Amino acid sequence: MHAREIRQGIQLIATVHWERRLFDSLIPLPDGTSYNAYLVKGSQATALLDTTDPVLQEELLRELDTLDRLDYLVSHHSEQDHAGTIPAVLARFPEAILVCSTKAKDLLETHLHIAPERIRTVADGETISLGDKTLHFLHTPWVHWPETMTTWVPEAKCLFSCDFLGSHLATSEVFIADKARVHEAAKRYFAEIMMPFRNVVRKNLDKISACDFDLVCPSHGPVHDHPAFIIDAYRDWVSPQMRNEVVIPYVSMHGSTERMVKHLIDALARHGVAVAAFDLAVTDIGKLAIALVDAATLVVGTPTVHVGPHPAVYYAAHLANLLRPKLKYAAIVGSYGWSSKAIEQIAGLIPNLKVDVLGTVLQKGLPTADTYAQLDQLAAAIAQAHKNDPEVNA
Ligand code: FEO
Repeated sequence: MHAREIRQGIQLIATVHWERRLFDSLIPLPDGTSYNAYLVKGSQATALLDTTDPVLQEELLRELDTLDRLDYLVSHHSEQDHAGTIPAVLARFPEAILVCSTKAKDLLETHLHIAPERIRTVADGETISLGDKTLHFLHTPWVHWPETMTTWVPEAKCLFSCDFLGSHLATSEVFIADKARVHEAAKRYFAEIMMPFRNVVRKNLDKISACDFDLVCPSHGPVHDHPAFIIDAYRDWVSPQMRNEVVIPYVSMHGSTERMVKHLIDALARHGVAVAAFDLAVTDIGKLAIALVDAATLVVGTPTVHVGPHPAVYYAAHLANLLRPKLKYAAIVGSYGWSSKAIEQIAGLIPNLKVDVLGTVLQKGLPTADTYAQLDQLAAAIAQAHKNDPEVNA
């Protein structure tokens, strides 16, 4: 996209990756994404904040073509979707100094082979004056790498947060038009990228809240001109409070596990417990990640394949373990043909989840009346655990 002014002397240069459908060869991108760079022109110096993915390098360089001089190139985060075009920008502007956090220097040198003499590191709270604008650097680690940093420009009341507070969303709009769409994209982004670090995310929210800003400018998705929208959403997602909800990722090969899961869903609903169920054979794994942000309980449903759980369940359980959602309760249900170690193997896949296991129901072949009675008991146990827990909202 062409550069657009968002504040006097500050331009958004968004390179929009409309057709991208997978990030890190892992994360589904149903709505594409964008990589936002920002050009900040002060009365005495000019800075570019972040670059773009190398795939869209030419688009960014084209927008910088008429720029006579670049004094500073700020790297908030060393991942290639923002840093991958740094070498090309440094080559185009040989006078530019690359500014980054102390921890980023090594990453930029090793990941992008940037010459150390081009790099200036800045401490937490350090500033660089551009004349009538100031770059005020805040170290905000683990959103989502150890080196991540945020820049506040107090004169313009702008906060440049890179991945933090962003959303994978390809759009031609500068600001949010469809709040519900951006909320889901931002929640998906939080779930897949930020959730494992939610305790440090909370600290970083407190840190940026000490700054006076009315624009949040992330490096993915639209700019937030009502920052409370995204800050409040993040505060909700990192809070210890959970929803009275059960997430059920499951697979069924010949219908037995599916019958059990459907019965359990109905039993939970009778107790007033909400359910988000995902057939792993067809689901968008990002939707599962979104549901895990708020839920209090995880129930895994699996058939048995060669004694262990179905491979799709391995994947989902491993992913849930990596994402470290705040849920507090778990259960496993499923079926098998002649023997099974599925429960033991699934339990071994989720050591990061500090959960109370409220029950397991494993059925040989088709479920029976006794199986359904066990599922009813499991639903009652989940409902009671939620009811007794002050961190589960009614
Ligand atoms: Fe958008 Fe962690 O890169």
